[in-house]
Amino acid sequence: QEVLAAEMERTFIAIKPDGVQRGLISEIITRFERKGFKLVGIKIMVPSNGFAQKHYHGLKERPFFNGLCNFLSSGPVVAMVWEGEGVIRYGRKLIGTDPQKSEPGTIRGDLAVVLGRNVIHGSDGPETAKDEISLWFKPEELVSYTNNAEKWIY
Ligand code: TYD
Repeated sequence: QEVLAAEMERTFIAIKPDGVQRGLISEIITRFERKGFKLVGIKIMVPSNGFAQKHYHGLKERPFFNGLCNFLSSGPVVAMVWEGEGVIRYGRKLIGTDPQKSEPGTIRGDLAVVLGRNVIHGSDGPETAKDEISLWFKPEELVSYTNNAEKWIY
């Protein structure tokens, strides 16, 4: 009850163009949903290259930056906000890291082979989560609600 009253943590998760093209939308959503996290925002869009550059602004000095932004803007992306206790850190755990180094059981471990085609993005900390959510979503596109499972999760 205490936990339900508190403001719940939120993170930004995106299914990248490779994940969408490969038909992995439901597979990825299922993994977050069955863990017990709650979907509070979702849309599909093709980000412009400039938008992708804003999203990845922290990586602009890296050699792979242009290729990465071209890739993210190459097709539809499913942008989502997920909510739950510890969702930022645990979301990264569900995602994994480099597909070649990620354990089976993680999204990238199970569903991706190379670093540049790793099917999913997840915010890496509270500050980036806040920034990415406000870049991709207007406040009115996010919902707050209680679902029936919550009292059995918390
Ligand atoms: P990064 O933020 O380091 O990884 P993560 O997505 O796990 O938080 O990098 C962002 C994306 O950039 C990553 O998903 C894949 C791509 N990338 C490359 O293409 N080459 C690289 O050498 C690295 C480190 C990342």
